[in-house]
Amino acid sequence: MQQSQPTMEPAARTSLNVEALRRDFPILTRTMRGKPFIYLDNGATSLKPQSVIDEEVRYYTELSANIHRGVYEFSEEASECYDQTRGIVARFLNAPSEREIVFTKSATESSNLIAYGWAMKNIKQGDEICISEIEHHANFVPWQALAERLGATLRLIPIDPGDASLDLSDLDRLINDRTRLVGITAMSNVTGYMPPIERILARARAVGAVTVVDGAQWVSHATVDVQKLDADFLIFSAHKMCGPTGVGVLYGREALLNEMDPFLFGGDMVLRVRKEKTVFRKAPEKFEAGTPNIAGVMAFGKAIEYLQNVGMKAIHEHEQDLLRYMVERASEIDGLVSYGPADLSTRGGIFSFNVGDAHPHDTGNILDEDGIAVRTGLHCAHPLMQALGIPGTVRASFYLYNTRAEVDRLIESIHRVRRIFS
Ligand code: ALA
Repeated sequence: MQQSQPTMEPAARTSLNVEALRRDFPILTRTMRGKPFIYLDNGATSLKPQSVIDEEVRYYTELSANIHRGVYEFSEEASECYDQTRGIVARFLNAPSEREIVFTKSATESSNLIAYGWAMKNIKQGDEICISEIEHHANFVPWQALAERLGATLRLIPIDPGDASLDLSDLDRLINDRTRLVGITAMSNVTGYMPPIERILARARAVGAVTVVDGAQWVSHATVDVQKLDADFLIFSAHKMCGPTGVGVLYGREALLNEMDPFLFGGDMVLRVRKEKTVFRKAPEKFEAGTPNIAGVMAFGKAIEYLQNVGMKAIHEHEQDLLRYMVERASEIDGLVSYGPADLSTRGGIFSFNVGDAHPHDTGNILDEDGIAVRTGLHCAHPLMQALGIPGTVRASFYLYNTRAEVDRLIESIHRVRRIFS
Protein backbone atom coordinates (compact mmCIF):
# COMPACT_ATOMS: atom_id res chain seq x y z
CA MET A 1 0.00 0.00 0.00
CA GLN A 2 1.17 3.46 -0.83
CA GLN A 3 1.98 5.95 1.85
CA SER A 4 -0.48 8.80 1.54
CA GLN A 5 1.04 12.24 1.11
CA PRO A 6 -0.48 14.39 3.85
CA THR A 7 -1.78 17.87 3.20
CA MET A 8 0.68 19.98 5.18
CA GLU A 9 -0.35 23.17 6.93
CA PRO A 10 1.54 25.03 9.64
CA ALA A 11 0.32 23.47 12.91
CA ALA A 12 -1.27 26.04 15.18
CA ARG A 13 -1.11 25.58 18.93
CA THR A 14 -4.55 25.55 20.51
CA SER A 15 -6.03 27.41 23.46
CA LEU A 16 -6.46 24.38 25.76
CA ASN A 17 -4.52 24.74 29.00
CA VAL A 18 -3.10 21.23 28.77
CA GLU A 19 -0.53 21.59 31.54
CA ALA A 20 -3.30 22.56 33.99
CA LEU A 21 -5.72 19.85 32.99
CA ARG A 22 -3.00 17.17 33.08
CA ARG A 23 -3.00 17.69 36.86
CA ASP A 24 -6.57 16.36 36.93
CA PHE A 25 -5.35 12.91 35.79
CA PRO A 26 -3.44 11.30 38.68
CA ILE A 27 -1.99 8.47 36.57
CA LEU A 28 0.02 10.99 34.55
CA THR A 29 2.39 11.38 37.51
CA ARG A 30 3.45 7.72 37.21
CA THR A 31 6.44 6.39 35.37
CA MET A 32 6.37 3.35 33.08
CA ARG A 33 9.52 1.24 32.62
CA GLY A 34 11.23 3.92 34.67
CA LYS A 35 10.37 6.69 32.18
CA PRO A 36 7.75 9.46 32.34
CA PHE A 37 4.50 7.84 31.30
CA ILE A 38 3.25 8.81 27.82
CA TYR A 39 -0.23 7.56 27.15
CA LEU A 40 -1.10 7.37 23.45
CA ASP A 41 -3.64 4.57 23.58
CA ASN A 42 -6.77 6.65 23.93
CA GLY A 43 -8.49 4.75 21.15
CA ALA A 44 -8.45 1.73 23.46
CA THR A 45 -9.53 3.59 26.59
CA SER A 46 -9.05 7.05 28.05
CA LEU A 47 -7.49 8.09 31.36
CA LYS A 48 -9.80 9.18 34.17
CA PRO A 49 -9.78 12.57 35.91
CA GLN A 50 -9.92 12.72 39.72
CA SER A 51 -13.58 13.89 39.73
CA VAL A 52 -14.63 10.67 37.96
CA ILE A 53 -12.56 8.48 40.30
CA ASP A 54 -13.98 10.37 43.31
CA GLU A 55 -17.58 9.82 42.20
CA GLU A 56 -17.03 6.09 41.79
CA VAL A 57 -15.49 5.96 45.29
CA ARG A 58 -18.27 8.18 46.71
CA TYR A 59 -20.89 5.68 45.62
CA TYR A 60 -19.16 2.85 47.50
CA THR A 61 -18.22 4.88 50.57
CA GLU A 62 -21.38 6.97 51.00
CA LEU A 63 -24.26 5.16 49.28
CA SER A 64 -23.56 1.55 48.33
CA ALA A 65 -27.29 0.94 47.85
CA ASN A 66 -29.17 -0.65 44.99
CA ILE A 67 -31.40 1.59 42.88
CA HIS A 68 -35.15 1.65 42.11
CA ARG A 69 -35.78 -0.90 44.88
CA GLY A 70 -35.27 0.65 48.32
CA VAL A 71 -37.42 3.21 50.13
CA TYR A 72 -34.55 4.28 52.37
CA GLU A 73 -32.60 7.51 51.93
CA PHE A 74 -29.37 6.11 50.48
CA SER A 75 -31.20 4.00 47.91
CA GLU A 76 -33.28 6.99 46.88
CA GLU A 77 -30.16 9.14 46.52
CA ALA A 78 -28.37 6.45 44.46
CA SER A 79 -31.46 6.12 42.21
CA GLU A 80 -31.57 9.87 41.73
CA CYS A 81 -27.86 10.10 40.82
CA TYR A 82 -28.16 7.17 38.38
CA ASP A 83 -31.28 8.59 36.74
CA GLN A 84 -29.79 12.09 36.55
CA THR A 85 -26.93 10.78 34.41
CA ARG A 86 -29.47 9.77 31.77
CA GLY A 87 -30.41 13.43 31.49
CA ILE A 88 -26.75 14.49 31.39
CA VAL A 89 -26.12 12.09 28.47
CA ALA A 90 -29.31 13.21 26.68
CA ARG A 91 -28.31 16.88 26.92
CA PHE A 92 -24.74 16.08 25.82
CA LEU A 93 -26.15 14.49 22.65
CA ASN A 94 -28.98 17.01 22.26
CA ALA A 95 -31.39 14.06 22.33
CA PRO A 96 -35.05 15.13 22.37
CA SER A 97 -35.77 12.94 25.39
CA GLU A 98 -33.79 11.13 28.07
CA ARG A 99 -36.03 8.13 27.39
CA GLU A 100 -33.89 7.66 24.27
CA ILE A 101 -30.81 6.84 26.35
CA VAL A 102 -30.28 3.19 27.34
CA PHE A 103 -27.37 2.21 29.59
CA THR A 104 -25.60 -0.99 28.58
CA LYS A 105 -22.23 -2.38 29.60
CA SER A 106 -20.39 -1.41 26.40
CA ALA A 107 -20.79 -0.16 22.83
CA THR A 108 -20.62 -3.82 21.83
CA GLU A 109 -23.58 -4.68 24.03
CA SER A 110 -25.41 -1.72 22.48
CA SER A 111 -24.97 -3.05 18.91
CA ASN A 112 -26.01 -6.53 20.06
CA LEU A 113 -29.08 -5.04 21.69
CA ILE A 114 -30.11 -3.56 18.32
CA ALA A 115 -29.34 -6.89 16.61
CA TYR A 116 -31.42 -8.94 19.05
CA GLY A 117 -34.08 -6.37 19.88
CA TRP A 118 -34.77 -4.82 16.48
CA ALA A 119 -33.08 -6.75 13.69
CA MET A 120 -34.08 -10.28 14.74
CA LYS A 121 -37.73 -9.48 14.29
CA ASN A 122 -37.50 -7.08 11.35
CA ILE A 123 -34.93 -8.67 9.02
CA LYS A 124 -35.94 -11.66 6.92
CA GLN A 125 -34.32 -14.05 4.49
CA GLY A 126 -33.34 -12.21 1.29
CA ASP A 127 -33.11 -8.80 3.03
CA GLU A 128 -29.83 -6.94 3.02
CA ILE A 129 -27.65 -5.34 5.68
CA CYS A 130 -24.99 -2.85 4.61
CA ILE A 131 -21.94 -1.96 6.67
CA SER A 132 -18.37 -1.03 5.68
CA GLU A 133 -14.93 -2.57 5.53
CA ILE A 134 -13.58 -0.15 8.12
CA GLU A 135 -15.93 -1.19 10.91
CA HIS A 136 -14.63 -2.25 14.31
CA HIS A 137 -15.72 -5.81 15.10
CA ALA A 138 -18.38 -4.39 17.44
CA ASN A 139 -20.24 -3.05 14.40
CA PHE A 140 -19.25 -5.87 12.06
CA VAL A 141 -19.51 -9.27 13.73
CA PRO A 142 -23.07 -8.84 15.12
CA TRP A 143 -24.37 -8.01 11.61
CA GLN A 144 -22.39 -10.76 9.92
CA ALA A 145 -23.63 -13.33 12.46
CA LEU A 146 -27.20 -12.08 12.17
CA ALA A 147 -27.13 -12.16 8.35
CA GLU A 148 -25.89 -15.76 8.46
CA ARG A 149 -28.56 -16.74 10.96
CA LEU A 150 -31.43 -15.04 9.11
CA GLY A 151 -30.35 -15.80 5.55
CA ALA A 152 -29.84 -12.12 4.81
CA THR A 153 -27.08 -10.72 2.58
CA LEU A 154 -24.30 -8.67 4.12
CA ARG A 155 -22.95 -5.96 1.82
CA LEU A 156 -19.76 -4.03 2.52
CA ILE A 157 -18.88 -0.52 1.42
CA PRO A 158 -15.28 -1.11 0.27
CA ILE A 159 -12.21 0.89 1.09
CA ASP A 160 -10.08 2.75 -1.37
CA PRO A 161 -6.82 0.86 -0.72
CA GLY A 162 -4.82 3.99 -1.61
CA ASP A 163 -5.67 5.80 1.60
CA ALA A 164 -8.07 3.51 3.52
CA SER A 165 -10.98 5.91 3.03
CA LEU A 166 -14.35 4.55 1.88
CA ASP A 167 -15.13 4.23 -1.81
CA LEU A 168 -18.73 5.42 -2.14
CA SER A 169 -18.90 5.17 -5.93
CA ASP A 170 -21.22 2.14 -5.73
CA LEU A 171 -23.29 3.35 -2.80
CA ASP A 172 -26.64 3.25 -4.60
CA ARG A 173 -26.18 -0.43 -5.46
CA LEU A 174 -24.86 -1.37 -2.02
CA ILE A 175 -27.73 0.38 -0.24
CA ASN A 176 -30.85 -0.48 -2.23
CA ASP A 177 -34.54 -1.29 -1.84
CA ARG A 178 -33.76 -4.59 -0.11
CA THR A 179 -31.51 -2.95 2.52
CA ARG A 180 -33.11 -3.06 5.95
CA LEU A 181 -30.22 -1.83 8.07
CA VAL A 182 -27.12 0.30 7.48
CA GLY A 183 -24.33 0.35 10.07
CA ILE A 184 -21.49 2.84 9.75
CA THR A 185 -18.71 4.06 12.00
CA ALA A 186 -18.36 7.80 12.49
CA MET A 187 -14.60 7.40 13.04
CA SER A 188 -12.33 4.49 12.21
CA ASN A 189 -10.55 3.18 15.30
CA VAL A 190 -7.54 2.34 13.11
CA THR A 191 -6.96 5.47 11.03
CA GLY A 192 -9.20 8.07 12.67
CA TYR A 193 -10.88 8.54 9.25
CA MET A 194 -14.34 10.06 9.56
CA PRO A 195 -16.40 8.89 6.58
CA PRO A 196 -19.02 11.21 5.09
CA ILE A 197 -21.75 9.64 7.20
CA GLU A 198 -24.32 12.28 6.21
CA ARG A 199 -24.23 10.96 2.64
CA ILE A 200 -24.44 7.32 3.74
CA LEU A 201 -27.27 8.05 6.19
CA ALA A 202 -29.16 10.05 3.53
CA ARG A 203 -28.98 7.12 1.12
CA ALA A 204 -30.13 4.75 3.89
CA ARG A 205 -33.08 6.99 4.70
CA ALA A 206 -34.00 7.22 1.01
CA VAL A 207 -34.51 3.43 0.87
CA GLY A 208 -36.16 3.27 4.31
CA ALA A 209 -33.32 1.40 6.06
CA VAL A 210 -32.74 1.67 9.80
CA THR A 211 -29.39 3.33 10.60
CA VAL A 212 -26.81 2.53 13.26
CA VAL A 213 -23.85 4.87 13.83
CA ASP A 214 -20.89 3.51 15.76
CA GLY A 215 -19.70 6.50 17.75
CA ALA A 216 -17.25 4.67 20.01
CA GLN A 217 -14.27 6.66 18.70
CA TRP A 218 -16.18 9.78 17.76
CA VAL A 219 -18.44 10.88 20.60
CA SER A 220 -15.48 11.44 22.94
CA HIS A 221 -13.87 13.91 20.52
CA ALA A 222 -16.75 15.73 18.83
CA THR A 223 -19.74 17.94 19.41
CA VAL A 224 -22.52 15.48 18.70
CA ASP A 225 -26.11 16.47 17.99
CA VAL A 226 -28.28 13.41 17.39
CA GLN A 227 -31.09 15.55 16.00
CA LYS A 228 -28.80 16.86 13.27
CA LEU A 229 -27.21 13.44 12.77
CA ASP A 230 -30.69 12.01 12.19
CA ALA A 231 -29.63 8.38 12.69
CA ASP A 232 -31.95 5.85 14.31
CA PHE A 233 -29.30 4.53 16.69
CA LEU A 234 -25.95 5.72 18.02
CA ILE A 235 -23.70 3.47 20.11
CA PHE A 236 -20.70 4.41 22.26
CA SER A 237 -19.04 3.73 25.58
CA ALA A 238 -18.11 5.76 28.66
CA HIS A 239 -14.55 4.55 29.12
CA LYS A 240 -13.28 6.21 25.95
CA MET A 241 -14.53 9.60 27.19
CA CYS A 242 -12.88 9.85 30.60
CA GLY A 243 -15.55 7.67 32.20
CA PRO A 244 -15.31 4.23 33.80
CA THR A 245 -15.25 0.87 32.05
CA GLY A 246 -18.41 -1.23 32.06
CA VAL A 247 -20.85 1.47 30.89
CA GLY A 248 -22.09 1.76 27.32
CA VAL A 249 -24.84 3.83 25.73
CA LEU A 250 -27.45 3.04 23.17
CA TYR A 251 -29.15 6.17 21.88
CA GLY A 252 -32.26 5.24 19.89
CA ARG A 253 -35.35 7.02 18.59
CA GLU A 254 -38.00 6.60 21.25
CA ALA A 255 -40.60 5.05 18.93
CA LEU A 256 -38.12 2.47 17.67
CA LEU A 257 -36.91 1.62 21.17
CA ASN A 258 -40.48 1.09 22.30
CA GLU A 259 -41.16 -1.26 19.36
CA MET A 260 -38.06 -3.33 20.14
CA ASP A 261 -38.00 -6.53 22.16
CA PRO A 262 -35.98 -6.68 25.35
CA PHE A 263 -32.66 -8.44 25.02
CA LEU A 264 -31.98 -9.36 28.65
CA PHE A 265 -34.81 -10.41 30.95
CA GLY A 266 -35.11 -10.20 34.76
CA GLY A 267 -35.67 -7.70 37.54
CA ASP A 268 -36.31 -3.96 37.15
CA MET A 269 -37.31 -4.21 33.47
CA VAL A 270 -40.81 -5.42 34.30
CA LEU A 271 -44.08 -3.71 35.12
CA ARG A 272 -45.92 -6.81 36.29
CA VAL A 273 -45.00 -10.47 36.47
CA ARG A 274 -47.73 -13.08 36.76
CA LYS A 275 -47.40 -16.85 36.53
CA GLU A 276 -49.06 -16.67 33.13
CA LYS A 277 -47.43 -13.60 31.61
CA THR A 278 -45.01 -10.74 32.18
CA VAL A 279 -45.58 -7.15 31.11
CA PHE A 280 -42.41 -5.19 30.43
CA ARG A 281 -41.75 -1.53 31.15
CA LYS A 282 -41.23 0.95 28.30
CA ALA A 283 -37.82 1.95 27.01
CA PRO A 284 -35.28 2.60 28.38
CA GLU A 285 -36.05 0.58 31.52
CA LYS A 286 -37.09 -2.55 29.64
CA PHE A 287 -33.52 -2.86 28.36
CA GLU A 288 -31.82 -2.49 31.75
CA ALA A 289 -32.49 -5.82 33.46
CA GLY A 290 -30.72 -6.61 36.72
CA THR A 291 -28.58 -4.39 38.91
CA PRO A 292 -26.70 -2.03 36.60
CA ASN A 293 -23.23 -0.54 37.01
CA ILE A 294 -24.53 2.15 39.38
CA ALA A 295 -21.15 3.57 40.41
CA GLY A 296 -20.02 3.53 36.79
CA VAL A 297 -23.07 5.38 35.49
CA MET A 298 -22.78 8.00 38.25
CA ALA A 299 -19.09 8.51 37.46
CA PHE A 300 -19.91 8.69 33.74
CA GLY A 301 -22.06 11.75 34.52
CA LYS A 302 -18.98 13.40 36.07
CA ALA A 303 -16.91 12.49 32.99
CA ILE A 304 -19.35 14.27 30.70
CA GLU A 305 -19.41 17.30 32.98
CA TYR A 306 -15.60 17.31 32.91
CA LEU A 307 -15.47 17.18 29.10
CA GLN A 308 -18.12 19.87 28.79
CA ASN A 309 -16.17 22.16 31.11
CA VAL A 310 -13.08 21.72 28.96
CA GLY A 311 -15.17 22.12 25.78
CA MET A 312 -15.61 19.58 22.99
CA LYS A 313 -14.62 22.09 20.31
CA ALA A 314 -11.35 22.90 22.12
CA ILE A 315 -10.65 19.16 22.52
CA HIS A 316 -11.21 18.56 18.82
CA GLU A 317 -8.95 21.48 17.85
CA HIS A 318 -6.23 20.29 20.21
CA GLU A 319 -6.29 16.79 18.72
CA GLN A 320 -6.17 18.22 15.21
CA ASP A 321 -3.10 20.20 16.21
CA LEU A 322 -1.41 17.08 17.60
CA LEU A 323 -2.29 15.07 14.49
CA ARG A 324 -0.90 17.73 12.17
CA TYR A 325 2.26 18.00 14.25
CA MET A 326 2.63 14.21 14.31
CA VAL A 327 2.25 13.99 10.51
CA GLU A 328 4.79 16.78 10.04
CA ARG A 329 7.36 15.15 12.36
CA ALA A 330 6.72 11.65 10.97
CA SER A 331 7.59 12.84 7.47
CA GLU A 332 11.27 13.03 8.59
CA ILE A 333 11.41 9.26 9.23
CA ASP A 334 12.52 7.12 6.29
CA GLY A 335 10.42 4.05 5.73
CA LEU A 336 7.53 5.15 7.92
CA VAL A 337 4.21 4.32 6.26
CA SER A 338 1.03 5.83 7.68
CA TYR A 339 -2.56 4.96 6.90
CA GLY A 340 -5.50 7.23 6.29
CA PRO A 341 -6.54 10.10 4.02
CA ALA A 342 -4.13 12.94 3.29
CA ASP A 343 -6.81 15.50 4.09
CA LEU A 344 -6.31 15.63 7.85
CA SER A 345 -9.59 17.48 8.40
CA THR A 346 -11.34 14.17 7.62
CA ARG A 347 -9.48 12.47 10.48
CA GLY A 348 -9.62 12.48 14.27
CA GLY A 349 -6.56 12.31 16.52
CA ILE A 350 -5.30 8.89 15.45
CA PHE A 351 -2.02 8.13 13.69
CA SER A 352 -1.59 4.54 12.53
CA PHE A 353 1.73 3.52 11.04
CA ASN A 354 4.43 0.95 10.39
CA VAL A 355 8.18 1.44 10.41
CA GLY A 356 10.13 -0.33 7.67
CA ASP A 357 10.01 -4.10 8.12
CA ALA A 358 9.49 -3.93 11.88
CA HIS A 359 6.48 -5.93 13.03
CA PRO A 360 3.99 -3.67 14.82
CA HIS A 361 4.39 -5.66 18.06
CA ASP A 362 8.18 -5.21 17.96
CA THR A 363 7.75 -1.48 17.47
CA GLY A 364 5.25 -1.44 20.34
CA ASN A 365 7.76 -3.21 22.60
CA ILE A 366 10.45 -0.62 21.87
CA LEU A 367 8.03 2.23 22.52
CA ASP A 368 7.06 0.54 25.78
CA GLU A 369 10.73 0.51 26.87
CA ASP A 370 10.64 4.28 26.36
CA GLY A 371 7.54 4.65 28.55
CA ILE A 372 5.12 5.08 25.63
CA ALA A 373 1.80 3.23 25.52
CA VAL A 374 0.30 2.60 22.07
CA ARG A 375 -1.85 -0.16 20.62
CA THR A 376 -0.35 -2.56 18.08
CA GLY A 377 -1.80 -5.26 15.86
CA LEU A 378 -5.14 -5.68 14.16
CA HIS A 379 -7.16 -3.32 16.37
CA CYS A 380 -10.33 -5.48 16.28
CA ALA A 381 -10.66 -4.47 12.63
CA HIS A 382 -9.57 -7.62 10.80
CA PRO A 383 -11.60 -6.89 7.62
CA LEU A 384 -9.83 -3.53 7.21
CA MET A 385 -6.41 -5.16 7.65
CA GLN A 386 -7.44 -7.85 5.16
CA ALA A 387 -8.43 -5.15 2.66
CA LEU A 388 -5.14 -3.29 3.21
CA GLY A 389 -3.15 -6.54 3.06
CA ILE A 390 -1.06 -5.75 6.14
CA PRO A 391 -0.37 -7.70 9.36
CA GLY A 392 -1.39 -4.76 11.53
CA THR A 393 -0.26 -1.28 12.50
CA VAL A 394 1.08 0.70 15.42
CA ARG A 395 -1.57 3.16 16.56
CA ALA A 396 -0.93 6.37 18.47
CA SER A 397 -4.23 7.92 19.53
CA PHE A 398 -4.42 11.34 21.16
CA TYR A 399 -6.70 12.98 23.70
CA LEU A 400 -7.03 16.26 25.53
CA TYR A 401 -4.08 15.70 27.90
CA ASN A 402 -1.48 14.83 25.24
CA THR A 403 1.18 17.33 24.23
CA ARG A 404 3.52 18.15 21.38
CA ALA A 405 6.41 17.24 23.70
CA GLU A 406 4.95 13.73 23.90
CA VAL A 407 4.79 13.58 20.10
CA ASP A 408 8.49 14.54 20.09
CA ARG A 409 9.23 11.66 22.49
CA LEU A 410 7.30 9.28 20.25
CA ILE A 411 9.29 10.45 17.21
CA GLU A 412 12.59 9.89 19.06
CA SER A 413 11.47 6.41 19.97
CA ILE A 414 10.45 5.64 16.37
CA HIS A 415 13.94 6.73 15.29
CA ARG A 416 15.25 4.12 17.73
CA VAL A 417 13.01 1.48 16.11
CA ARG A 418 14.39 2.51 12.75
CA ARG A 419 17.98 2.14 13.96
CA ILE A 420 17.33 -1.28 15.53
CA PHE A 421 15.63 -2.66 12.41
CA SER A 422 17.87 -1.09 9.75
N1 ALA B 1 -12.04 -0.45 20.42
C1 ALA B 1 -10.85 -0.23 21.16
C2 ALA B 1 -9.66 0.02 20.28
O1 ALA B 1 -9.80 0.36 19.13
C3 ALA B 1 -10.60 -1.26 22.18
O2 ALA B 1 -8.55 -0.12 20.74
